[in-house]
Amino acid sequence: MSDQLLIFDTTLRDGEQSPGASMTADEKLRIAVQLERMHVDIIEAGFPAASPGDFDAVQQIARRVTESTICGLARAIERDIEKAAAAVQPSSRRRIHTFIATSPIHMQEKLKMTPKQVLEQAVWAVKKACNYTDDVEFSPEDAGRSDPDFLCRILEAVIAAGARTVNIPDTVGYAIPSEFGQLIHSLMERIPNSSQAVFSVHCHNDLGLAVANSLAAVMGGARQVECTINGLGERAGNAALEEVVMAIRTRPDRYGCNTVIDATEIVPASRLISNITGFAVQPNKAIVGANAFAHEAGIHQDGVIKHRETYEIMRAEDVGWTANRMVLGKHSGRSALKQRLQKLGFEIESEETMNVAFARFKALADKKHEIFDEDLQALMSEHTIETLSDTYRLVSMSVCSQTGEIPEATVTVAVEGGEKTEVARGSGPVDATFRAIEKIVNSASTLQLYSVNNITSGTDSQGEVTVRVEKDGRIINGHGADTDIVIASGRAYINAMNKLAANEGRSHPQQTHFL
Ligand code: KIV
Ligand code: ZN
Repeated sequence: MSDQLLIFDTTLRDGEQSPGASMTADEKLRIAVQLERMHVDIIEAGFPAASPGDFDAVQQIARRVTESTICGLARAIERDIEKAAAAVQPSSRRRIHTFIATSPIHMQEKLKMTPKQVLEQAVWAVKKACNYTDDVEFSPEDAGRSDPDFLCRILEAVIAAGARTVNIPDTVGYAIPSEFGQLIHSLMERIPNSSQAVFSVHCHNDLGLAVANSLAAVMGGARQVECTINGLGERAGNAALEEVVMAIRTRPDRYGCNTVIDATEIVPASRLISNITGFAVQPNKAIVGANAFAHEAGIHQDGVIKHRETYEIMRAEDVGWTANRMVLGKHSGRSALKQRLQKLGFEIESEETMNVAFARFKALADKKHEIFDEDLQALMSEHTIETLSDTYRLVSMSVCSQTGEIPEATVTVAVEGGEKTEVARGSGPVDATFRAIEKIVNSASTLQLYSVNNITSGTDSQGEVTVRVEKDGRIINGHGADTDIVIASGRAYINAMNKLAANEGRSHPQQTHFL
């Protein structure tokens, strides 16, 4: 059995199925580049048949990323497989991942198919996918609740039909570690041609067991784990890549395999995902939480000072936490900024983009003496968004908030080659700002979430605002950052409006996910 564990990242596909986590093609591309930098073996870039936007994003990633395999998801039907094949075609390492449900409840209630029909459809789909690439993966959806005898029959048949990877999804997060590890082990033992395929697992976190189940499966013989950065994903999410990778690395004595992941890229990847989706990472989250390496208790601090390994099983710097994160200041020049941005994964392609980035950096440095990596990430994500979507642009805003008075906001937005100004009152300065913007854009969307996080510490920190709006079942996140949180809020709302305008007519992957 191979001693390499393949890491299959599905942040861009299953992760995007998280309500509120939909991403633009540009954001997906940035994430894919970061995943490639981390040496992820396979990137599931999306579900090309879900919408033209998903198709384009997968295709752009397949054109750009050369080191990782690029995978497109497809139901076991002709149209999906053809779309996935076309989207991943530009990649020299391309994979089609096709799936059909195998649990009694899914076959009877959802597919209305007999097990025999499901098996035939699976074999047909794998053969069809093999016409486009020799790297085909098959998943029996809801395997965690499927009959193991049926799993043996269908997996043997798809391996014979050409599937090189067979993935066992615990779609609803029902499995428990001992049972799931045993399932993988027994499938590999019982299926006569099992040595011709890599066994993979894909665990959901409904019972908080996704990582434990994935690791138990590795002990049972699985050599591919499907996971996501920060554990993002449908409902309670998927197994967190950072936890799987670091468990394998920290306990080689138990797992007997390794990954090729560059773990120092884990924290930058986590920040990038959280920045793009607006899903903050909880401080006590393993590996990537702000407190993951912070020792508060005196007895712990004393121990760590005397000998680091008294209380630390990993080194913060090995997963990408840098000791000194203060990188730039007021006197830093263009080339220092460009170099640091490249280190953070931002490719500055044109002089014009660099000019805008530098102007923003200088404006921020005037307000804030120390610029941290987190500041640059916030500044750049906003910057990228603004240059891409020019439907609305914040020109100016002024907000009056005073004890005993109703707050009032005056906002000017550039739209359709002109400028519009509106005044509105609200229960607070942010409410007044959103009302004024809404008068200009008339989005008729509903605000679902408003959150503010300080990007770094100190009262001069930038506030990063996330707003989530909903319109016709579509959920969009907007972000804005500024040292003034009311201005950051205005930027976040306009950002959401721009995304809404750009995404008009695009359906959420969840609406097209299942047969
Ligand atoms: O959870 C699941 O079953 C999936 C499959 C498409 C692999 O995401
Ligand atoms: Zn899934």
